[in-house]
Amino acid sequence: MGEAANKQKFANPFRPGAGHMPPYLAGRETETREFARLLEQQIILQNLILTGLRGLGKTVLLETFKPMAIRSGWLWAGTDLSESTSITESNLAIRLLTDLAVVTSSIVVGTEERNRIGFRPDTERTRTTLDYGFLARLFDATPGLVADKLKAVLETVWSCLQQIGKRGIVFAYDEAQNLADHASRDQYPLSLLLDVFQSIQRKNIPFMLALTGLPTLFPKLVEARTYSERMFHVIFLNPLSEKETTEAIQKPVADHKCPVQIHDASIKTIWSITHGYPYFVQYVCREAFDLWIQNMDNGQPPTSIPADALVRKLDTDFFSGRWAKATDRQRELLGVIAQLPNCDAEFTVQDVAEHPANQALTRPFSSSHINQILAALSEAGLVYKNRHGKYSFAVPLLGPFIRRQSGS
Ligand SMILES: Nc1ncnc2c1ncn2[C@@H]1O[C@H](COP(=O)(O)OP(=O)(O)OP(=O)(O)O)[C@@H](O)[C@H]1O
Ligand SMILES: [Mg+2]
Repeated sequence: MGEAANKQKFANPFRPGAGHMPPYLAGRETETREFARLLEQQIILQNLILTGLRGLGKTVLLETFKPMAIRSGWLWAGTDLSESTSITESNLAIRLLTDLAVVTSSIVVGTEERNRIGFRPDTERTRTTLDYGFLARLFDATPGLVADKLKAVLETVWSCLQQIGKRGIVFAYDEAQNLADHASRDQYPLSLLLDVFQSIQRKNIPFMLALTGLPTLFPKLVEARTYSERMFHVIFLNPLSEKETTEAIQKPVADHKCPVQIHDASIKTIWSITHGYPYFVQYVCREAFDLWIQNMDNGQPPTSIPADALVRKLDTDFFSGRWAKATDRQRELLGVIAQLPNCDAEFTVQDVAEHPANQALTRPFSSSHINQILAALSEAGLVYKNRHGKYSFAVPLLGPFIRRQSGS
């Protein structure tokens, strides 16, 4: 009885959800080592890009990099950029100063520092810190363009940090694919960010960028500034291997208080549904766990995982919203693409045009039409074009989903 009550209390450990730390973070050892190597840099020659499809674990991995950086003497500033699509240069500057102030505001700067930059000295006992007000005043007092002002602030901050023995600052921005230049409005916040960091890094100031985002991120940076190619080390997150998936499933329930055990047959089923895509792993495990607990409460024996029902639920919860945004003709094209043997990797316009599934349509798509539709689908976030002009699905396991829609 006591044990039964105890087991009731074991909450479902799985966490499907954007940015939710999984109960056990499987794999990612190579990526973690690569980031550790970047942290070793005295002079920053390489910044980090962590990229991959939706739900691959970019946000949670970046989250685990933070304590690592702090342990090795770095400060960590930054935020999520999902809200800032129409950012201006001065908005970007405010963003950087705000994020910076969060980590520097407790750092005391001497009177000397204040005099040098021309502020009225307060009484000797008043301590001035590197808070937002200080940074903003320094920014405003510096002549020149936004880039000059930002550089001046960052240089001053570094001269203070050096004195307290800090190694540098990591500026971490999630969802950074939202950064963009806006030529029509004469606003170039993305180029500004790259120019400022390139310039201060050339002056040996160890402020490092760590950007995460969808696969469109890196091509976008290179398009804005070609030197981005050399400035970033790109880590592309892949799905978990079968072994890592097994760990992601088993470790969270490997507790004697856990009423549920997940056996090999179930693990195989979960692997066959998820192919190691982290969000799907959490999703399927969470559903299965709830189901088993429910069965147990009703006195039924544990069942095998109802794969079909779970796939249907995943289709509704994850895919159908995205699918609903496509027009009929776009869906027809996606249907052709889903027939390509290489649809889950990369494909070209020519692959699509020449495929028998296209030829068999009443109105086959021409190459130029395919180009057009793929551009619209990129806008809608269903596909993306890589740097070599090839296309990929921007959503994991979209191919099988589309094939399920057409019943093929
Ligand atoms: N290594 C991992 N092991 C187990 N689960 C993971 C792992 N990485 C991520 N997850 C789980 O996958 C889901 C997605 O993670 P996260 O939100 O970090 O992905 P993302 O790449 O940032 O997605 P998006 O592109 O939508 O922002 C979360 O539920 C998280 O708990
Ligand atoms: Mg994320």
